[in-house]
Amino acid sequence: MVEFDEIVKTRRSIREYADRDVSDEDILKIIKAGMQAPGSRLGAEPWEFVIVKNREMLAKLSEIKPRVKTAPVAILLVANIERAFYKLHWQQDMSAAAENMLLEAVNLGLGGLWNGVAPTEDTMAKVAEMFDLDNENQIPFCIITIGYPAEGWENRFMDKFDESRIHYEKY
Ligand SMILES: Cc1cc2nc3c(=O)[nH]c(=O)nc-3n(C[C@H](O)[C@H](O)[C@H](O)COP(=O)(O)O)c2cc1C
Repeated sequence: MVEFDEIVKTRRSIREYADRDVSDEDILKIIKAGMQAPGSRLGAEPWEFVIVKNREMLAKLSEIKPRVKTAPVAILLVANIERAFYKLHWQQDMSAAAENMLLEAVNLGLGGLWNGVAPTEDTMAKVAEMFDLDNENQIPFCIITIGYPAEGWENRFMDKFDESRIHYEKY
């Protein structure tokens, strides 16, 4: 376990991974962290998760999202609108889950990447076809790749603070 402050500050987008598997236990912990996120309506969150470990599936997926290429596992986040109470809030619900997952990956000594899918229609259509999301209520949101960072790709602190973006009392 890593200190929360360190997790938040050192998380980086990890785009290349070592040739080492991630345990099923860690994959489950990452998904549990996703489901722990705030959602627009408790009990009516849209999130569902597809775990992809099969090498052929990963190779096929990397034709759509190239950064999947070296990842030992990819998790597709699907917004199932039928589950949602607030039908227009899914991008926010899904984003909250995705960020929690990336932070849990760092907590476990892993690295992750948010591979964007929605709202790029062409990418969404390709991912939907690959995963048989044939219902318009099943929306592919993003793909979180997870793995041990390749050499030179370790999580590390990068200062993103910008005081000019803070306003006091009025904009
Ligand atoms: C909505 C969203 C979509 C993203 N899509 C991609 C992507 O398709 N490919 C990629 O390499 N990085 C993607 N990223 C990662 C960003 O490029 C990355 O977070 C940003 O450059 C800041 O770097 P950091 O995560 O290391 O702080 C995405 C991030 C977000 C939030």
